[in-house]
Amino acid sequence: MKIFNYGAINIDHIYQVPHLVRAGETLSSTDYHQVLGGKGANQSIALARAGAEVHHIGRCSKTDTWAVEQLGDAGVNCQLIELVDEPSGHAIIQVDEQAENSIVLFGGANQSFSQQDIHSALATGVKGDWLVLQNECNNIEAAVEYAAQAQLKVVFNPSPMLSDIEAFPIDKVSLLIVNEVELSQLLDCANLEQNEIVDKVRKQYPDMDVVITLGAQGAMWVNANECIKVDARSVKVVDTTAAGDTFLGYLLAAIDRGESKQAALTIGCKASSLAVQSLGASISIPTSAQVAVI
Ligand code: RIB
Repeated sequence: MKIFNYGAINIDHIYQVPHLVRAGETLSSTDYHQVLGGKGANQSIALARAGAEVHHIGRCSKTDTWAVEQLGDAGVNCQLIELVDEPSGHAIIQVDEQAENSIVLFGGANQSFSQQDIHSALATGVKGDWLVLQNECNNIEAAVEYAAQAQLKVVFNPSPMLSDIEAFPIDKVSLLIVNEVELSQLLDCANLEQNEIVDKVRKQYPDMDVVITLGAQGAMWVNANECIKVDARSVKVVDTTAAGDTFLGYLLAAIDRGESKQAALTIGCKASSLAVQSLGASISIPTSAQVAVI
């Protein structure tokens, strides 16, 4: 089926630093790169590299046509991307020697969508198509409401987790993809054991599929009847930026072509294990040929 992804396109400014800058400190970086990023753009690239038909809905500045070209080169359908007068969204990313990062976001053009803009972009969606959402664009509630009416299946990755998430119609989501921190913010389950977390997820979201990414511990798929866990590969981590986006893209592409949940978790973990071994967002997302040989 067709996959629509309404998501942020960012210009990522990546600074390699000895440690994350402290309050009041001025710190020299040891290296700097400017690359295409944004959770939406990264996920679209991962979906396309994994072989899915993905249509990105997004906006960036007229001065950043290179970003759209890179999405197109990766195989993303860019017909629903608009070039606008507003500045593109951007992210200031520090990555330290232990592969820890910190990210400051500027929304820019990612925050400029009206409800009507979103409805128009989704107008060609038909029953059974997917809509992927993260939390870096505005009016995502309008996208979910539209998708529910048009019977599109919603995949929601509530990242970054903001306080406005409480107003989000989460009951209309088919597949929720969260890391442990996001899940604990949603369900207040930070101090629970894994089996207690599974129980809580089932109680809170009885009709939903929930995929929980566990970093170095792998990933888990939970629904009312199943709990499937896959271990991560053990690798040397350089930068975790876009690892979750890579996981989501490869997992969803596998589900879309009819593979099992176990197989989808496995390929998602493999792809993200490659992404963490190099610096940067979109540039660290592996091709399917690279994923196939590990
Ligand atoms: O998930 C990684 C992304 O988060 C980065 O590319 C950055 O743009 C931020 O949106």
